[in-house]
Amino acid sequence: ARDASYDGSLPTSLDDVAAGVEVCRRCDLWRDATQGVPGEGAPKAALMFVGEQPGDQEDLAGRPFVGPAGQMFDRALAEAGVPRDRTFVTNAVKHFKHEPRGKRRLHRTPDRGEVTACRWWLDAERRLVKPRVIVMLGATAALGVMGKPTPIGANRGKALQLSGQARGVVTYHPAFLLRVPDEEARARAYAEFVQDLRLAGELAG
Ligand code: URA
Repeated sequence: ARDASYDGSLPTSLDDVAAGVEVCRRCDLWRDATQGVPGEGAPKAALMFVGEQPGDQEDLAGRPFVGPAGQMFDRALAEAGVPRDRTFVTNAVKHFKHEPRGKRRLHRTPDRGEVTACRWWLDAERRLVKPRVIVMLGATAALGVMGKPTPIGANRGKALQLSGQARGVVTYHPAFLLRVPDEEARARAYAEFVQDLRLAGELAG
């Protein structure tokens, strides 16, 4: 079990973030989640990845991107030549938002209020890790990092300037790549995704 002694003040370590996420009441998503899922990885990574929120398996494991989307992400990272263990991987929202459907728990997209509430943690991770490059995986991640809606199609494939010194790259969410119905379109989007990860790796140096 994590140390839940976090007192609500500005987190000064990644352990603070993990402890704080676990007892967070900034929005209501903690109620139906198994646990909070903080970011993990190299504490001073030059490259940070931000996803949407934990999925079913991440909620159970307490770790980001370990389910089907995580496997897709790992495959693309390997193709792009980016070692995951040298990066920091987190989510815009730290608790799993879902609704019951029979025995399954169906993902629901977090709303703007939830993303805004959870920026407290994402901003803390950004401040502590200080990455040179932040990759936003999908629209919710882009909202969490940039604080405003940012269309993926029009902005992907290039380096954006973020506040502070960091550069940003927006790209598709790996779960979206799993769902593109047309095979050719899916292959194209996947190739673009790998290209974006490679760009991010180069920018991070
Ligand atoms: N999807 C996400 O956005 N994040 C995860 O951690 C898992 C799936």
